[in-house]
Parts: sequence; structure tokens; C-alpha cells
Amino acid sequence: MRILKTLLWLGFVALASADPPIDWDVESWTPELTSRDAQQVYRLPDSVLPQNYNIFLDLYFDERTEKPFSYEGRVYVSIKAVKENVSEIVLHANVDSINSVTLNDANNTIVPIEDYDIEQQYHFLKIKLTTPLNVNTLYELFIDYSGSMNEGPMKRGIWKGSYTDENNVERIYATTHFQPYNARQAFPCWDEPLFKATFKLHITRPANYTNVFTNTKTAVKSSLNVLEGRVDDHFEPTPVMSSYLVTFLVSENFKVIAEDTTFDPPVRIIGRSNTAGLGDHALKLAVGMTKYFNAYFDKPYATLDPNLNNDHVASPDWASAGTENWGMVSYKELHLILDPTVTIMSVEQYSATLVSHELAHKWFGNLITCYWWSNTWINEGYASYFGYIATHQVFPEYELHEHFNSRYLQNSLSVDSGTGTVPLNYDVNTPAQVTGHFGTISYSKGAAFLRMTANMIGSETFKKSCRYFLNDNAYKATDQYDLYNAFAKAIDEDKSLQGYQHFNFTEYYDVWVNQPGYPILIVNVNHATGEIELKQERFFLSASATPSEQIYPIPITYSTKSQPNFAELKPSDMMTGDRMMLQKDNKEEWVIFNHQQNGHYRVTYDTKTWSMIGEALRNERDSIHHLNRAQVVDDVFALMRSTKVDYSQGFQILRFLRNEDNYHVWTSAISGFSWIRSRLRHIPENQATFDSFVLSYMEHVINKVGFEPSSDETPTVSLLRQEVLQFACNLGHEKCVQESVRQFTALKQAASVDRRILRSVYVNGIREGGVQDFEFLYGRFVKSNIANDKLEMLRAMGATKDPELLNRYLKLTLTTEVRPHDKVTSFNYALLGHPHNAITVLQFVKQNIDQIRIQYVADSPANPINSAMSSLASYLDESGLTEYEEWLRETQGGTAQFNSTISAINSARANIAWGTNNAEIILAAARDSARTTTGSLVLLAIAFIVVKLM
Ligand SMILES: *[C@@H]1O[C@H](CO)[C@@H](O)[C@H](O)[C@H]1NC(C)=O
Ligand SMILES: *[C@@H]1O[C@H](CO)[C@@H](O)[C@H](O)[C@H]1NC(C)=O
Ligand SMILES: *[C@@H]1O[C@H](CO)[C@@H](O)[C@H](O)[C@H]1NC(C)=O
Ligand SMILES: *[C@@H]1O[C@H](CO)[C@@H](O)[C@H](O)[C@H]1NC(C)=O
Ligand SMILES: *[C@@H]1O[C@H](CO)[C@@H](O)[C@H](O)[C@H]1NC(C)=O
Ligand SMILES: [Zn+2]
Repeated sequence: MRILKTLLWLGFVALASADPPIDWDVESWTPELTSRDAQQVYRLPDSVLPQNYNIFLDLYFDERTEKPFSYEGRVYVSIKAVKENVSEIVLHANVDSINSVTLNDANNTIVPIEDYDIEQQYHFLKIKLTTPLNVNTLYELFIDYSGSMNEGPMKRGIWKGSYTDENNVERIYATTHFQPYNARQAFPCWDEPLFKATFKLHITRPANYTNVFTNTKTAVKSSLNVLEGRVDDHFEPTPVMSSYLVTFLVSENFKVIAEDTTFDPPVRIIGRSNTAGLGDHALKLAVGMTKYFNAYFDKPYATLDPNLNNDHVASPDWASAGTENWGMVSYKELHLILDPTVTIMSVEQYSATLVSHELAHKWFGNLITCYWWSNTWINEGYASYFGYIATHQVFPEYELHEHFNSRYLQNSLSVDSGTGTVPLNYDVNTPAQVTGHFGTISYSKGAAFLRMTANMIGSETFKKSCRYFLNDNAYKATDQYDLYNAFAKAIDEDKSLQGYQHFNFTEYYDVWVNQPGYPILIVNVNHATGEIELKQERFFLSASATPSEQIYPIPITYSTKSQPNFAELKPSDMMTGDRMMLQKDNKEEWVIFNHQQNGHYRVTYDTKTWSMIGEALRNERDSIHHLNRAQVVDDVFALMRSTKVDYSQGFQILRFLRNEDNYHVWTSAISGFSWIRSRLRHIPENQATFDSFVLSYMEHVINKVGFEPSSDETPTVSLLRQEVLQFACNLGHEKCVQESVRQFTALKQAASVDRRILRSVYVNGIREGGVQDFEFLYGRFVKSNIANDKLEMLRAMGATKDPELLNRYLKLTLTTEVRPHDKVTSFNYALLGHPHNAITVLQFVKQNIDQIRIQYVADSPANPINSAMSSLASYLDESGLTEYEEWLRETQGGTAQFNSTISAINSARANIAWGTNNAEIILAAARDSARTTTGSLVLLAIAFIVVKLM
């Protein structure tokens, strides 16, 4: 959507309801033209629109010995030309072969086709006609084609997977994953989200594949062709929707494992037969959120379309966490099948937000859909926002509205402060660019922008804007202008921004949606007069980044010691320029800006105010909201990195952590400390000193959470324990390691271990243990039926420090014992598991690179090998990096991973240099802050903590 850049923002409101902003000139475009506009070369012309698809798929499994796991397809699409002189129909196809193409007019008369061919790079099927199509007249395009199922989920399209059932028999299933551009692997189609149509599926399968689940209800009862041993199924048409939302699953024995039939359509959880009884939690989540969204959007699910199912499938393999296919959401099984005795709290909590996220997509994503992936944030930002904020309304026990900060806000502040960051609305064209835009910006910044906006306009106006947006654009593709119009209409009606003088919502929206980055608010308090001067500039993490002139409209909220007001999230002022003055009582007191860190910006203060904040955090911690304590920690680490606050001042402020035991504060602190200590890895003595400093700050929280969860503790407390123990044990905290090992020994003797400490027990049991411990856990892994527990056990096996066992573990990732989507994760576990492991992993990579490429599926969309090979670099020291680089240059030049790995090696060297240059400063700052706390006592304590070099 290059055209957007050249549009004056001023004119956009008028444009919003006009033609879609794509400017593909069919007439001037001929196949011979080689220098086509590179920006849009992957896009289809919008001169022909599909209306209805009838898709016939004959699925064959191993019974078809000459071509196992393949399919024959026939697709009928009714189409119409919406421009004149269209003599070429261009659509997507990425199948094995196109066997025939015919075109009929509405009288069923054949329209002559001159020729058709495939342009493989773009997956274009181009059909040339002898005479142009009549405009706005229906034609029927018929394509007969053949295709193959992919092996495993990574390449998406139609793929097959397997699992072992309760009778120890290997079972096969075949399913689909089309988002964002893989429907073209299953049937020729207009595979861009804007080309909405209805889809009617007709599937045939061998009779021993017992069922088909899909988007919609069955239209015609299954019929058995006895002679061929095959069954025919026909399904109702979908609502008008994008091609990527079509799906089905054919299996030998998947079944409904939980359902609520009081709904129409019933809410159903579907899984392999041996997960029966383990879908109840997922059902509770799906039912609760469906009810909530039905009311919130004022457009109940059942009214969206009479044919849709409300199914949730737990797929043993899945390339993402979940995918919102309309009527039938698929999830990676580990997120949906929960076992209350072993599933750890982070998985349980994530499950709640994921089910809610996917259900929110039924409205935001499926009913309305981003016009093109440049606007993915409209789908993903809303689903992410509701996945936390709406879920909190229905399942308050998870406190997801607060967890939003570490999951989305802080994640976005971190990524969006790089020099290479992009705006929410960002041109993407190639498949790789499309995949890349499904990332932090679209999800996290999108969600954070929406929450910031909701606070500003109020929750009722926000809800109203959602309803307008859905109503005005139902079953259509939408873009930022449609969304703007919905906001503008609701805001105008409710007069929700009347209180803000000189504030222009249009500009606010334009800047946050179309500009990259975000600001830092610079606060200077005159403590004698009570005057507060605010300034802003774009925040870059890199101190050497070129400054930017960009001004961001900033919602202002603040509290002072005498007037704490942290619960108020509606901004008192909007800062629209580069400078602004506020007046408070002229008391000498702390001020804190950005209540509960709900605004998408960072804050820094003059030195005196910072030291007052630091003092308040130490002496009257509870007077500052815990999310603002977390904000201070998150901001201070970023400010130290960007050299806006020096380390000694930063560590003075962080001193309060010694008495802190709030989850949100500690999760920010752990990520800040981890960032620093990973840069000290090559200087182990310095790292050990730093670790002992960190551990001295953690004593209080470690003791507070302990190893004995109480029966009525909140999920957040369980998460605190999980993260604190994991980090403390990694740093070699003696009691943490000992207690974990003790419980691991008990586990071996068949004792049960509370799931809330299971991660540390597994990991430390293996890290500190030997062959027998490894064998024990491996045996447990093989026997386990719970995918999330299996992944925890892989994490633990990767923590062995015995090179032989580690090698055995790494080899496991080359077998089917580690599921395709878990392979890179498991590879990373080996690096995370123990600092000595990287060199063993390097030898494994050097010896097995060809197998790794095959087994980790090198050419799948997320580039799993690039990511594995890059992450290895960040764990190696200089001698390891030299060896790695030599090997790459000698043997891997020209491979798809070469450039990215070399650049990862360069980053690793930069990190090492950074650590070497800053170690003294950081350790001095740490020592200094420890000293000022309670003098020599603390130093003594640090000296006595036995730190293992981890
Ligand atoms: C708000 O800003 C937009 C874009 O800069 C401008 O077109 C519009 O006139 C402004 N509205 C008001 C009320 O000033
Ligand atoms: C299903 O039936 C086909 C023959 O129709 C056979 O080739 C195949 O092995 C069977 N599969 C299973 C798992 O029984
Ligand atoms: C279609 O082609 C005819 C004949 O070449 C031409 O006269 C007419 O202007 C074209 N129409 C458009 C919309 O390009
Ligand atoms: C179909 O046939 C009728 C009657 O011969 C004719 O009037 C009409 O134009 C034809 N439609 C098309 C699309 O050719
Ligand atoms: C790798 O980098 C070289 C030199 O910058 C470049 O010419 C080449 O195209 C890059 N290869 C890939 C696969 O990106
Ligand atoms: Zn999503």
C-alpha cells in the first residue's frame, strides 16, 4: 500500500469509504515487463473478484502407494470482473500440478482460454483469455489440480501429523494451516485477505479415517462408497470471509473431549482420543469468553452466521500458538490440554489469554479483516488487547490486566526503541516481510496503543467504537481509515475528549499508527515552586542513534506523594508539543508519571526527583503502585543502557528490590539483570560477583515465596515463585538448588511434586544430576501424555552439563520424539541450560548441519534454522565464535543462514565488548548501592553466598 505514503493525511477521511487503497494498474501491466514495481510485485490485481468457492478435495493417505499423502482437488469459483478490458485472470496457486482450467459464463457456455501458466516465484496462476471479460457479470472458473500433504506443521498448507493413541498405535491426522498466505497450497484462490468470498468444502477420505471437523456444519449426511472404501462429506458454506480462514481436520480418532451444548452452536473442545477428560479447563475458558464477547460486541457469535461451528481443536503439532480459523480454532495442544497435576502456572495462565485472543478474532480478524498484512495490527492488536483486558473481566483470578504490562507494553517499549523499528501500519509485500510483520509491533504495540486510547476516551466510548467498526465493516476488509472513522464517530457522539484543549485526535491517531517509535517524557520539577516542566523526545536505546524531531501526543497521568492517584488512568492532560508546564503544590516531594505504566512511553526525572523516588521506594514502598514500581525498574534499566541515567544512580534507585516481593516488579528486574549478566558471560569472575549482588537482592523474595505453595495462593504468586526460583537457581542460589535436587530425588522415588515448583525441580535435578537422573526423566518424558509437561522435561534435559548426555539430547531433536514445532525451542534449551553447553552445541551443529536443515525444516516460514544458528552465537565466547565463524566461512558460504549467522556473530562480539568495557562501572555501581544500604552487613552477606559459576 505504497500509495498511503503519498497521500496527504488531511484528505484521508474522504478517502476512507472510497476504493480500497491499492493502485494496481492492470492495463499497463504485461507479463513481459520485468521491472515491475518491486513493492507490489507479490500482490494480485483487484480487477477480478471471487464470490463463492466450491472446493472438492479427495484426500489420500498411505493407501495410495504410488503417491502417498496427497490429494486431488477441483475448485469451482464464481468470479466477476470489476474493471473493463480484463483479459487475464490472475490468482494464487502453489500446488503440485494444474491439470485443467475452464471458464464458463452464466449460461454455462464455455469461454475460450488462450493459455494459462504458473509464475512460481509469486505463486501466480495466470489465465489468458481471447476476449475480455464482461464487467460485473458472473463467470464460473473451474480448476482441476493435484497436491501433496506437507510432512508436519512447519510449512503449513495441508499437512499431516501423527501421534500414539491409548493402545500404543500410531495414528495419522491431516489438517490445514493457511494463515497468512498458505491457502494457495490447498486450492487455487485469491489468497489475500481483502478478497472475501464464501467457501463450501466437499471432502472425501478413506473410511478408516473416522471424522472430519471444519469451519461449518455438515450439509449432507456422510455417504459411504463401499466399493472404494471411501466416505463423502459435504459442508455448509462459510460466511463471506478471507481464504486464510478456511480449515479442516481429518483423523482416525480425534473426538469431542468436552462440550457445552447449551450454546448454539455448541462450544466444543476437540482432541486426540487419549486427551479425553483433559479439555474441561479449555471449555470453561471458551464458554466464558464467548458469552462475554457476545455481550460486549452486541453481535452474538450465533448471529454472525448460522453455519459456523464454535470448535477448538488441540492439535498435537501446530506451527504457532493458535490460529483463528472461523468456526474451528486450532491450537498447539500444549496450550489447550491441561493436566491439573503437572501443568505449570505459566502455561495455565497463557491458555486463558490465548483462548480469549482467538475468540476475539472471530469478530476482530474474521468478521472484519485487515485489508492487507501491512495492517495486521488491526487483527492482532485487538485480539491481544482483548486477550488480556476482556479475560480479566471473566477470569479475574489471573489478573491479566496487570500482566499486560510485562507481556505487551514492556515488550513493545523494548523492541520499539531500536533504530530499525517500524510503525504499526507498515508496507509489507514479500512472504518473508508478511511473516515478519506478525511480530512485536503488530501484537504488542498494537495492543498497547489500543489500551492507551481506551484509557483516554473511556471504556464506554471504546466499546462503542468497537461496535461501530464491526457494524460498518462487517464481512469486509478494513484499514486504518475505517478504524479511525469508528473512533471518530464514537468520540464525537460521547464528547469524550472535550476536556482536552488543543488536542486533535486525528493527529494522535496518525502519529501513533504511522510513525515508528515512542517518546521519553523528561520531567523537571522545581521543588521550590512546584512547577513541573515536561519535555519529550523520541527514545532510542542506542546512545548513538540519530535524534529524531518526531513529537508524539502523550497522555499525561501523574501522582505526587501528597496526592497519590495511581488508580486514575484517564489522562489529566494531553501533551501535544515538545514542551509543557504543570503546576503542583510547592512541597518537596516525589512525583511519578504514567500511572500503572499504561501509556506507551518512558519517563525520566531530574536527579533530585529521581533520588526522592528512590528514597520513597526504599522507605514507603507501598505508597507507590506496584505497576509503577515495575515501571521504574523497566525504565531505569533502559535509561542505563541508553546512558541517560548512569549506573551508579540507576542502582541506587534499584536498591528497594531488597525488600520487594511483587511479581510485576521482579519480572522487570529479572529481565534487566539478565540482560546485563548475559554480557558478562565471557568474564566469569565478574559475572559471579554480579550474580552475588543480584542474589543478595533476591534473598527476601526467595524466602517469601519459598518451596511450599499454599493452597489458596493467587496464580500471580505462583508465577512469582516460578520465575524467582528459576532465576535464583540459574544464578546458583544454594538453597534453591539444594531444595530442587531434594525434590527431584523424591520424584524419582515416586513422590508427587507440586506443579508450581516443577520447573525448578526438573531443571536442577538434571543439571546437578547424572546419567541415572537423565534416564529417569527421559523415561518419564516418553511415557507422558501431556504435551506441556513433555516440553518442561525437554527444557530440563537440555540443562545437563554432561557433554555426552547433552549430545544425546540434541540428537533427540533430530528424531520424531521432539515435535517439529518444539525443535528450535529444545535447541535453545540446551544453550540456556548451562553456560558450558554452547561449545557442545557448536560441535553438534558442525557435525549435523545437513540433518538439522532437514529435521528443523529449513525452508518453513519462520526460518527456524536461522534463528537456531543465530542464538548459538550469543552463547559463545571469543574462541567459540572464532571456531564458528571459520567453519561458516569454509563450509556454509552461500547458504540461507550464512549472512544472518555472521551478523549474529558480530552482535555477539559487540555484546562481549560491551561487557568488557562496562563490567567495572557496573560492579562498582552495584557494590556502591549495596554499601549504602546497610553498610558492612550486606557486604558480609554477599561474601558468604556460595555462588556457582553459572
Ligand atoms: C486535526 O488535524 C488534522 C490533520 O492535521 C486536520 O486536518 C484537522 O483540521 C484538525 N482538526 C482540528 C479540529 O483542528
Ligand atoms: C485404512 O484403510 C486403508 C485401505 O482402505 C489401508 O491401506 C490403511 O492402512 C488403513 N489405515 C489404518 C490406519 O488402518
Ligand atoms: C478498453 O479497450 C477499448 C478498446 O481497446 C478501449 O477503447 C477502452 O478505452 C478500454 N477501456 C478502458 C477502461 O481501458
Ligand atoms: C445468456 O443467454 C441469454 C439468452 O440467450 C442472453 O440474453 C444473455 O445475454 C446470455 N448471458 C450471457 C452472460 O452470455
Ligand atoms: C548476503 O550478503 C551478501 C553481501 O552483503 C549479499 O550480496 C547477499 O545477497 C546476501 N545473501 C542473502 C541470502 O541475503
Ligand atoms: Zn492473533
